[in-house]
Amino acid sequence: MSATVLVTGGAGFIGSHTCVELLEHGYGVVVVDDHSNSSPRALERVAKIAGRPVTAAYGIDVRDRRALSAVFDAHAFDAVIHFAAKKAVGESVELPVEYYDTNVGGTTALLSAMREHGVHRLVFSSSCSVYGDAAAVPLTEEDPAAPTNPYATTKWLCEQVLADTCRRLPDMSVLALRYFNPVGAHSSGLLGEDPRGVPDNLMPVLAQVAVGRLPGLRVFGDDYPTADGTGVRDYIHVRDVADGHRVALEHLGDERGMRTFNLGTGVGTSVLELVAAFTHACGRPIPYEITARRPGDVAALVADPGAVARAWNWATTRDLAAMCRDAWEFQELNPSGYPD
Ligand code: NAD
Ligand code: WQD
Repeated sequence: MSATVLVTGGAGFIGSHTCVELLEHGYGVVVVDDHSNSSPRALERVAKIAGRPVTAAYGIDVRDRRALSAVFDAHAFDAVIHFAAKKAVGESVELPVEYYDTNVGGTTALLSAMREHGVHRLVFSSSCSVYGDAAAVPLTEEDPAAPTNPYATTKWLCEQVLADTCRRLPDMSVLALRYFNPVGAHSSGLLGEDPRGVPDNLMPVLAQVAVGRLPGLRVFGDDYPTADGTGVRDYIHVRDVADGHRVALEHLGDERGMRTFNLGTGVGTSVLELVAAFTHACGRPIPYEITARRPGDVAALVADPGAVARAWNWATTRDLAAMCRDAWEFQELNPSGYPD
């Protein structure tokens, strides 16, 4: 019988692409998502791409312990992937309590349900933001954590909760994956990033400028100590992130306890380099102006992807051109995102 995986936040950007990947590899998939930042349509499209639907989808909040327990009663899970969280850095400064409650409280509620139901295997969504303002790149997992905003602190706290839980419960096996900057979309054009309101992140802003929803890009600073003065990031195709989760599931059984890995490409790209790559992909000009730095931004964040390569013999396969092409394809086919 095929393994069944609980995917929290499975209708979201990374979650929906991971559901496709798991279904295409024969897993049974159960989704818990309250749709606070996603459309239920995403799961219809997951089924269309994968050729079969998820086993079940529950529109509940992971912090609803009674409802979550009923989900664990109804299915025998081999493992859990925990994506459900709030993820907007700026909003986390405005609403810290909501961020700690959802991200840390959601994780402790999930861990309680897993313990009560004898489920010991977890893949957790962490973030490169735990590294903060890095002194040098590329970053290895041994570099110190120094979160600079409440969102990043929630991810760092969750890692501590998971490490303490693994020390106490020797059957637990946890992989915390620190994603760098996931972008792109499924190459079918059916699944992609559909942020609510005006996007904060560079790739969705570029896509919305190209499609005419936004007038232009503001480049937040060109006086960083980088080659062209604009911020450098490690953009990773969302399908590589999804594939990384499938491979992580295969390696949960390698050893017990908690392990932490970067998920990135190791390639740094500046804002202006991404503008050029996206302009090429969409064939339209992207008007932009240089403005002041965005508060809290850092000059460069790039992964050293060596640890995951050594542990799993795995690496990303999609380049920046594919990330831009797929992001543009989704935006062009879905100019207003998923239909309501
Ligand atoms: P997303 O917002 O698209 O997906 C998160 C999903 O979780 C959404 O579908 C949302 O409706 C759901 N959700 C939120 N709170 C919930 C709750 N209390 N109960 C049930 N469902 C809830 O975000 P994403 O980009 O797919 O991110 C997925 C995970 O990866 C998050 O944990 C995020 O912090 C982490 N991450 C994202 C990035 C990035 O740049 N996208 C980078 C590093 C880490
Ligand atoms: C990338 C670069 C901006 C928008 C965020 C989170 C991080 C992680 C990944 C969740 C920077 C510049 C952006 C714009 C711009 N997510 N920029 N104009 O800030 O690296 O990371 O997503 O864990 O935690 O902080 O991503 O896409 O917002 O910015 O010039 O309109 O683009 O200054 O250099 P960021 P981003």
